[in-house]
Amino acid sequence: MSIVILGAYGQLGTALEATAYREVISLPRQQADLAQTTDVCKVLDSLNPEIVINCAAYNQVDQAQVDLETAKAINTDAPGILAEWCDRRDAVFVHFSTDYVFGGDLSRRTPYTEQDPPAPLSIYGETKLAGECAIQAASRKYFILRTCGLYGARRSTGKGNFVETMLKLAETRDELNVVDDQECTPTSATDLARWTWALIETSRYGLYHATNSGSTTWCRMAREIVRLTHQSTIVRPITSEEFGAAAPRPHYSVLDCSQLEEVIQIPILSWQTALESYLTQR
Ligand SMILES: NC(=O)c1ccc[n+]([C@@H]2O[C@H](COP(=O)([O-])OP(=O)(O)OC[C@H]3O[C@@H](n4cnc5c(N)ncnc54)[C@H](OP(=O)(O)O)[C@@H]3O)[C@@H](O)[C@H]2O)c1
Repeated sequence: MSIVILGAYGQLGTALEATAYREVISLPRQQADLAQTTDVCKVLDSLNPEIVINCAAYNQVDQAQVDLETAKAINTDAPGILAEWCDRRDAVFVHFSTDYVFGGDLSRRTPYTEQDPPAPLSIYGETKLAGECAIQAASRKYFILRTCGLYGARRSTGKGNFVETMLKLAETRDELNVVDDQECTPTSATDLARWTWALIETSRYGLYHATNSGSTTWCRMAREIVRLTHQSTIVRPITSEEFGAAAPRPHYSVLDCSQLEEVIQIPILSWQTALESYLTQR
């Protein structure tokens, strides 16, 4: 069975290749640019995979607010076209989405299930949600996994991740101001990769929530990073408003992952355990 990974040199693509139990064909942006879907389909024609795993995305949440066209092309149009390609070939399409499809319900304080109606706040969230819809309309054999705050090793230079950013800042600063009013569940790319392989095995197609368990804020996460790496940096809480990012983020976007856990029969680790494991293995 041949498996192609698109966007393969990012965090998740790197983790999927590292945890694969079968041979995979890893295609980075240079070999399959989702801005050129006709070319990507030609590459797929020549490889004829039975499973296509799409890890490529336009992930610059703030930049997407002013670059809607590119965000839509990569996050919405390309996944729809790739899902259609897979459906024509009876291949399985695997795709990743985000907790940022939620957030519009300002009073929400319980984890979102797959049945909850999405309400994105940002252009990034809107384009990812539209990507989910395009896949669902185009294909029957799809897996969509919504995740949050991924951290992992990567082969491309791309944007870093929250953990690496905090580690770098803590090296040079005595104090850090970190947002404390966004409750979510940052997730290990390695764990997500393992769940993805297990899910593919089940053939139980559909939409899944896929994060580590529990929840935290970026401020509490930063304090845990500082604690686990024995640094003395003081982490102070600030509001999203004080931080002033261009794109609005959900104040609460914790995902209920019980459906995934039930289907793959693998216990999902807490965000603290996953973080500790990442920090000891990096
Ligand atoms: N990272 C998070 O915090 C997070 C949170 C929620 C959901 N997700 C979703 O999880 C999935 C994997 O994310 P990740 O953390 O692995 O992201 P990542 O590390 O940024 O990797 C994404 C990869 O996509 C590639 N890419 C970007 N534009 C492309 C294009 N036009 N054609 C082909 N490849 C392109 C990038 O290539 P370059 O390196 O060359 O730019 C990068 O290697 C994505 O669907 C993302 O939306 C991520």
